[in-house]
Amino acid sequence: MTTYRISPSILSADFAKLGAEISDVLAAGADWIHFDVMDNHYVPNLTFGPMILEAIKPYAGSALMDVHLMVEPVDSLISSFAAAGANMITFHPEASRHVDRSLSLIKGAGCKAGLVLNPATPLSVLGHVMDKLDMILLMSVNPGFGGQSFISETLNKIKLVRARIDAHVAAGGQPILLEVDGGVKVDNIAEIAAAGADTFVAGSAIFNAPDYKTVIDNMRAELAT
Ligand code: DX5
Ligand code: ZN
Repeated sequence: MTTYRISPSILSADFAKLGAEISDVLAAGADWIHFDVMDNHYVPNLTFGPMILEAIKPYAGSALMDVHLMVEPVDSLISSFAAAGANMITFHPEASRHVDRSLSLIKGAGCKAGLVLNPATPLSVLGHVMDKLDMILLMSVNPGFGGQSFISETLNKIKLVRARIDAHVAAGGQPILLEVDGGVKVDNIAEIAAAGADTFVAGSAIFNAPDYKTVIDNMRAELAT
């Protein structure tokens, strides 16, 4: 039986009360906190950095801090995000000159490491680094903004990555989580899970709703069907 994780993206939270938003969404049943770092260079938007992560970390308790770096370059920021409280750090291979080195830096800083694939990023980027991955994050929108619509072609890509992970594990490799990010809602989470995802980022679906617990409960009910 698959264990599913829901990782709300605080990109859609009320930034004026970020600590309370994190406490509330965890009390509502979220598993992780998804922290979207945008640099107005790799993506055309600007969010927050390690100082904000450090400030909100106490509100997350023991919940895993899932840091999604949409920055270029990557390596120079890894140690400060690790020191600020990141537990998982993912980055886009297009933004790193040396992907294997970036993965090693993340692991060396004591964090779990993952690669993020945009809708048009080929799966060939996974070659030769599968042994170093704790997670593969598939973008189901183009990165940069919350509130976009799920790109349905991603479903087939999820199936391909699921098959790749399963083959890797069957050959004696370590487990690798498969997270999907962008446009995840109550009404599509079941088919995203059926395609092979086990970890779900949801920003606007949760934070734009009046009651976070209702949304998360409804997502879990969909995952149980
Ligand atoms: C987009 C971010 C996502 C985004 C998801 O670049 O990586 O995490 O916040 O937001 P929703 O769930 O609203 O699509
Ligand atoms: Zn994200």
